[in-house]
Amino acid sequence: MESLKRHTDYGNEGLTAEQAGTDPLALLAEWITAAEAADIFEPNAMVLSTIDADGSPSSRTVLLKGLDVSGDAGTGLEFVTNYLSRKGRALAAHDRVSLLFPWYGLKRQVIVTGVAKPTDGITSDAFFVRRPHGARLAAIASDQSEPVDSRETLDERMATLEVQYPEGEHIPRPEKWGAYCVVPDRFEFWAGRSKRFHDRIVFTREVGAGSGSPWTVTRLQP
Ligand SMILES: Cc1cc2nc3c(=O)[nH]c(=O)nc-3n(C[C@H](O)[C@H](O)[C@H](O)COP(=O)(O)O)c2cc1C
Repeated sequence: MESLKRHTDYGNEGLTAEQAGTDPLALLAEWITAAEAADIFEPNAMVLSTIDADGSPSSRTVLLKGLDVSGDAGTGLEFVTNYLSRKGRALAAHDRVSLLFPWYGLKRQVIVTGVAKPTDGITSDAFFVRRPHGARLAAIASDQSEPVDSRETLDERMATLEVQYPEGEHIPRPEKWGAYCVVPDRFEFWAGRSKRFHDRIVFTREVGAGSGSPWTVTRLQP
């Protein structure tokens, strides 16, 4: 494990106050576009951290599927999942979350804190119909986060659903599957620089504040 001994320089691109601007949603959109342009695998992947009902933290990767840059109180960062999964159960107990975009290849990281709420059914339906056929069936077949006796059991469920819903057939969205919207109240943009003397710029606003409420911008020490 050579990497444990290495000390990689993070370059000097950084993040100036001018580049950061005053709108963190616009800056996040800009950085996702840069990750796409750099051909990063799943540039919209983010690590979602939640707190279980018993107080234990847990993290996993999900994909950002919608970003509303208007910044209204009810809008924000959307992802889709199984509402009955471990994360779904955690969110029912504690709706505050952390989302972390790990763009190591770009020497960039963004951490978002906010409140996650299930979206309405119409929004979830719209995400569901956009999924490929197989991914829609998988959403039905999987009781996400529950134990299963074997891979074969899952494959049999999938085979049954493929017969029930051939390609082109309407597939109803299962109630257990849908979207969440995270309304952000804190963003931290991190940009790597030489000598581990990095740039960190934080945007905060009151929890539940709407688009009219401006963000407070603060630079943090690296
Ligand atoms: C790149 C990547 C993207 C993923 N995207 C999603 C996603 O959008 N939604 C989802 O429910 N799980 C996604 N997963 C799987 C989750 O990380 C996780 O295994 C699953 O949601 C179950 O998590 P839980 O048991 O904590 O609820 C993704 C995993 C990876 C590695």
